[in-house]
Amino acid sequence: MRRLAVIGYPVGHSRSPQMQNAALRELGLAGEYEYDRVEVAPAEFAARVREMAAGEYVGANVTVPHKEAALALADTAGAEAEAIGAANTLVFEGDAIVAANTDAGGLLRALARAGAPRGGRALVLGAGGAARAAVWALARGGAGVEPLAVDIWNRTAAKAAALHRELGGRAELGGEAVERPRAAEYAVLVNTTAVGLRGEDPFAELPLSRDGFAPGQVVVDMVYGERPSAILAAAAAAGAATVDGLEMLVQQGALSLELWTGREAPIEAMRAAARGGGPAL
Ligand code: ATR
Repeated sequence: MRRLAVIGYPVGHSRSPQMQNAALRELGLAGEYEYDRVEVAPAEFAARVREMAAGEYVGANVTVPHKEAALALADTAGAEAEAIGAANTLVFEGDAIVAANTDAGGLLRALARAGAPRGGRALVLGAGGAARAAVWALARGGAGVEPLAVDIWNRTAAKAAALHRELGGRAELGGEAVERPRAAEYAVLVNTTAVGLRGEDPFAELPLSRDGFAPGQVVVDMVYGERPSAILAAAAAAGAATVDGLEMLVQQGALSLELWTGREAPIEAMRAAARGGGPAL
């Protein structure tokens, strides 16, 4: 058996196993590969990954809080993972651990599906790990999405400025760190903050207003829950295109699966399973 897993701490909530196993079944690879979840604390992360690579595992997804450690541990890394400073995907090639970042490519594929804007500005809300991949992806473009000028807003403004300086040293960002953005002016809005996850009001915490969205915008909210987030509900009501956290999960997972198997990912089966249409494992 070739084993795959999502590694996190905690990881019990992850929908990756049900999504990836559905994909493996759809590809006729279910007898050959199996995808499970591995919960490991930060102190044990590196040793555990090396043990997995030496054993039956051929790869893994890596989630919070291990994405930076995953890059640090790898023997080689893709240019994107290197530039972003984090990896969400590991491929075990013999003894070598190879790191990749499919969060960036996944965002671009999701944007393309929602109706990619042709040029303009993007606003990324937040300056944590998820923001890094989003800023990089939007500035570089790809998957049919043209590079956009990227502004960054963060509650702690100094972190937005620091992220803008750091990634701006590696890519042409075009935009700036902003303290009072006017959301309606952006072609693309991406919320990478966890606001809304614990019932906070995003319109109180973020520089967004319920009636501040416009048709033609693409609005991405990386938070995922059972219902559309308050941000996406307001954006959709204004006629904007929306991308939710589950679509991000599907797209990054599809790219990871392609790295492990070399096969084109069965995206519809993955989407159905991620949204609850497949058996949970
Ligand atoms: P991740 O790796 O998922 O991006 P993170 O690194 O913990 O998570 O970053 C969380 C982001 O959410 C940060 O940008 C944080 O803002 P601060 O840098 O000011 O802490 C943002 N965030 C969390 N709670 C928030 C809130 N109530 N209002 C606004 N931003 C919030």
